[in-house]
Amino acid sequence: MKRDGFSSRFGILAAAAGSAIGLGNIWRFPYITGENGGAAFILVYLVCIFLIGIPVMLSELVIGRNAQSNAISSFDKIKPNSPWKFTGVLGVLTAFIILSFYSTIAGWVFAYIGRAVTGQLSSISPAELPQYFGNIINAGGSNLEPILWQFVVMVITGFIVIAGIKKGVEKYSKLLMPILLGLLVVLAIRSLTLEGAYKGVEFLFKPDFSSLSVEGVLEALGHAFFSLSLGMCTILTYGSYVNKKERLPSLALQITFADTAIALLAGIVIFPAVFAYGLSPDSGPDLIFITLPTVFYSMPFGSFFQMLFLVLIGIASITSTISLLEVPVSYFTEEFKLSRKKVTILITSIIFLLGIPSTLSFGSLGDVTIFGKTFFDLMDFTASNILLPVGGLLISLFIGWGWGIRNAVKEATNDGNIEFKLASAYGFATKYLAPIGIFVILLYSTGVI
Ligand code: TRP
Repeated sequence: MKRDGFSSRFGILAAAAGSAIGLGNIWRFPYITGENGGAAFILVYLVCIFLIGIPVMLSELVIGRNAQSNAISSFDKIKPNSPWKFTGVLGVLTAFIILSFYSTIAGWVFAYIGRAVTGQLSSISPAELPQYFGNIINAGGSNLEPILWQFVVMVITGFIVIAGIKKGVEKYSKLLMPILLGLLVVLAIRSLTLEGAYKGVEFLFKPDFSSLSVEGVLEALGHAFFSLSLGMCTILTYGSYVNKKERLPSLALQITFADTAIALLAGIVIFPAVFAYGLSPDSGPDLIFITLPTVFYSMPFGSFFQMLFLVLIGIASITSTISLLEVPVSYFTEEFKLSRKKVTILITSIIFLLGIPSTLSFGSLGDVTIFGKTFFDLMDFTASNILLPVGGLLISLFIGWGWGIRNAVKEATNDGNIEFKLASAYGFATKYLAPIGIFVILLYSTGVI
């Protein structure tokens, strides 16, 4: 059977950017930026994106397209029977973890969409919001609602993945991503034209390094991987569906640019509004669930903009969850010659079950901590700040030292048929800069050195 694949350049870009752009940009980036003091954190984040993110992005695309296979077998095809395939094993494992807690937050978004559409959300006053939100997410006891929404997210994701690459992933990404961009631009204009908005712009763009900690640097690195969907072979898997004529270096740049632009745009939507209404930027994960509705509450046409914003986050999260699910689905389908449908249903169920403790950690399991972290925080920290950077480290080492820059550049230039001016910079970044950078940040911030 012919392997499924993308049908157009725009389709590839929409799907890959759709993977990258998600809760990471609209929920995680604003709140960790808020917690880490704003512009200085963003600057470190951009450095990580530029020096480490772009090379790793290209590396994943190159490996996937060369091998035309899934996360694990790709390494095996390029270097048979070598330990490098452990990188793919780690990737598949990380996909289970990330999707399990990602669906918790995506579930909250869908819970809010339901309430925004029925007009219920706009009738809640700012003073009542924390309690209102608390009730929604307080899983456990008699309130099973968040688990139900998590289930809904997994079912939608599963359906699209079963449909395959062309008829599922590509089709929905092409439709959803342009809508997302349009909505964000409308919201950014609204936010920037509020009185007092400039304080938020300052928070985003005027760095104050005294507010940045060592952990902040690890967060920035981890988030660069998280936001670009790097380090667990998602982009590698999508790369395996790209045809041999496509230009990979420019694709890597475009995906990275789109992701970064959307994160900054989300910041421009959120912070000017937060400051204009005298709220605090560092409220944490509930920033978009409590702080923002407060903003919308007192804004002209607020309930309309609130609904737009939620729908947009819902869209962005689904184009990301499908890319996370695709990693294990493609592996198990191809390796065990099982039907895509069976594999998807099985894996979706396992991830749903794995995700329940994360959802419950905001309710009945709230007091249970491991290494001082709730179950949700532990999953997020382990996957985002440790496993993804380690994955990125291994991918860089594989290209730089295992397979060799020469082979990688050959694939990146379609066998020398297209120009790649930055090939030597890519080689240097992949051999030295990225591995050493990741290694040092990992050791330093985890307290080893
Ligand atoms: N990048 C997505 C976001 O920002 C989430 C995501 C999708 C992801 N696939 C991934 C994160 C792979 C890490 C690895 O929301």
